[in-house]
Amino acid sequence: MYFYMPTKIYCESNCVRNHAKDLSTLGKKALIVTGRRSSKENGSLADIQDTLSKEGISYEIFDRIEENPSIETVMEARDFGNESGADFVIGIGGGSPLDAAKAISLMMKQIDKTEDYLYEKGSDDAYPVVSVPTTCGTGSEATPYAILTIHRKRTKSSISHRIFPVLALCDPNYLKNLPPSVLASTSIDALGHFMESYINNNATFYSKMLCKEGMHLWSSVKDVLLGKPACDADYESLLNASTLAGMAITHTGTSLPHGLSYYPTYETGVPHGKAVGSFLPAYLRAAKNYQSEILSLLNFPDTDAFTSYVNQVLGSVMISDDLKKAAVNGMLSNQGKLANCPFPVDEDVMWGMFE
Ligand SMILES: [Fe+2]
Repeated sequence: MYFYMPTKIYCESNCVRNHAKDLSTLGKKALIVTGRRSSKENGSLADIQDTLSKEGISYEIFDRIEENPSIETVMEARDFGNESGADFVIGIGGGSPLDAAKAISLMMKQIDKTEDYLYEKGSDDAYPVVSVPTTCGTGSEATPYAILTIHRKRTKSSISHRIFPVLALCDPNYLKNLPPSVLASTSIDALGHFMESYINNNATFYSKMLCKEGMHLWSSVKDVLLGKPACDADYESLLNASTLAGMAITHTGTSLPHGLSYYPTYETGVPHGKAVGSFLPAYLRAAKNYQSEILSLLNFPDTDAFTSYVNQVLGSVMISDDLKKAAVNGMLSNQGKLANCPFPVDEDVMWGMFE
């Protein structure tokens, strides 16, 4: 049995301001990594800026992280960070800025390395990373993963290095600004993390414990994704569920739905959580030995009710036949994802994931 979670995690209202002292010990100058808009609108960037200023920590902001960040953006931010003299990195936003912050901190420290180092074996030595999530799906605040877009391969993949944030400051108030479609898509991503971690050859007593508690928590607020008005406690539950799911996949990895999702996300731009969610009903149907337990944890009477719920939350995802063929062939040679899946997967099973 093995469990490793080195990230100090706080989840509460006014989290950033409450834990200013934890931030102030990490370095002399911060590189803040974020996207163009949302962190300015939901108050998270202002909270970090005010807190750093009060603690006497200077900072620079790189706010050009795009959705599904590319290697090129990471390298641009690495140069910006090093030129500014930053010695720790704060990622603010959804999975894209949080993942990018890890890769940027690695490359800032590995100053003599080119972008190839992201996908080579070697030291994981990086500057300290702080995560401030403003969505509730990625779980990146509690994982060592950093998924980047590799344009020359036309897909996404996690870097070869494991970079855990040293500190995660999770304030559920930041979720209140999310458009309903983003709240839904990211929350379904968290559900995917739970299901793919639970239905997984690497699952352990500890990872299953996280999934069981997390799916129970997620299920208690799942009607919010169908439009039920959310209260403060609901946002906190969705954020806690997302973080628990991150801890779970840290120990198991993900499986078929995530592996398949990268194809439509890259080629058609469909959001990550929506792409993952479109494969979850088929994954549950294929995982016959796990069905009743998962349905019970999520409080659905049967697989049809689960399928109907996911479809209602996400709508449909259109995938062309050519893209399906590319995804099936790609996944059949993706030994990492196949090894995680606890039931035999052949070409028929893979095509069945699109039904
Ligand atoms: Fe995901």
